[in-house]
Amino acid sequence: MRAVDLIRKKRDGGEFSGDEIRFLVAGLGDGTVPTYQWSALTMAIYWRGMTAAETAALVDAMLHSGTVLDLADIPGPKVDKHSTGGVGDKTSLILAPIAAACGVTVPMVSGRGLGHTGGTLDKLESIPGFRIDLDLDAYRRVARECGLVLVGQTAEIAPADRVLYALRDATATVESIPLITASILSKKLAEGIDALVLDVKTGDGAFMSRTEDARALAASMTTIGRALGKPVQALLTNMDVPLGCSVGNALEVSESIACLHGKGPDDLMEVSLELAAEMLLLGGVAKNREDALSHCRRSIADGSALERFRRVVIAQGGDGRVCDEPENVLPRAERIEWVKAEQSGYVHRLAAWSVGHASMLLGAGRTTAEGRVDPAAGIVLHRKVGDFVKTGDVLAELHFNPSFEHALPAAREMFKQAVTIADEPVARPPLILERL
Ligand code: URA
Repeated sequence: MRAVDLIRKKRDGGEFSGDEIRFLVAGLGDGTVPTYQWSALTMAIYWRGMTAAETAALVDAMLHSGTVLDLADIPGPKVDKHSTGGVGDKTSLILAPIAAACGVTVPMVSGRGLGHTGGTLDKLESIPGFRIDLDLDAYRRVARECGLVLVGQTAEIAPADRVLYALRDATATVESIPLITASILSKKLAEGIDALVLDVKTGDGAFMSRTEDARALAASMTTIGRALGKPVQALLTNMDVPLGCSVGNALEVSESIACLHGKGPDDLMEVSLELAAEMLLLGGVAKNREDALSHCRRSIADGSALERFRRVVIAQGGDGRVCDEPENVLPRAERIEWVKAEQSGYVHRLAAWSVGHASMLLGAGRTTAEGRVDPAAGIVLHRKVGDFVKTGDVLAELHFNPSFEHALPAAREMFKQAVTIADEPVARPPLILERL
């Protein structure tokens, strides 16, 4: 078999066999198919696409390019959630302890933020002492003892995806549904989970802003996951507006803890509870959606979800007092500036992309994969879509440290561009758009 013939085959619209895909992925790992050939291949796949059978074979080959964890010795169902990312999307920190409290083990491997979207690892690292780089033994131990574990991707998990993702980033081939499907599923299935819930976001701040694209991605991931024998459920959710009221790492941890105390904003609670309920259903610990939702709500009301979060924070080296007094434990920005409404009316638009971008300018996000984040920086929203404001009311707080003072005018301008206020009342947008 020769890579050049396979590139030609895909270029001309052919379909790969399983053996051909395994040859190509093995060659990526051992260097016998050089990255320049893989670059041409990703472009051919971008244009020609892949059938479900090819995509399933690609997921399987990438998944087996590294260690596939076996968590069979941990009793009970193991279920994870993956989100395609958004602004203020902190649901992992809320739903993982909820699911754990309800009897589902959540062995979660997460990523970092990039651009206008945040990442779970950056949020967790704003908790003093919290370690996301556990070795595999510690990963298993924390999962068994706490019912959840929250770590970063290790070099052992789906190494083919690391190489391929960087290559796609450099060759303008990220936006390919079979390649995204293979990337996400190979990483997630390597965690040793029994089932997976997907939060596929659509709208202004989402990776797939058009609903038809997000729906196609969700359909691809559920079809391929199920074809590989894993129950996968996807929710298509709205990312036109940031989720919750806080954007930025420590601010989002604080808001997540408020949710676990039963004091979170309604939109964030709704999405977190719906996703957690899907995890309970896939894990087989609830009879139906209503039953699952009521278990989840109970875990908040009786404090058991908060207790799970405290346990995992302490087990991963973090300061457990964050659960009771986040304001004294989490880093806080030295400066807070207000953005005030320049007219009265109803908030019609609060564009997630611009809010995320403004937060990034204040230091909360990174522009390159190697960049650092300021854990204290970010934005607290005082008004969301549908709310009424009077001229001079505070729309948002901008949190930043003096080293980002220079970025304040641009961040303020970016935030203002995110907001539209008009005279007529407007309904709050629906959050859960479809189940696939
Ligand atoms: N997120 C991933 O992990 N992989 C992709 O290809 C796109 C988004």
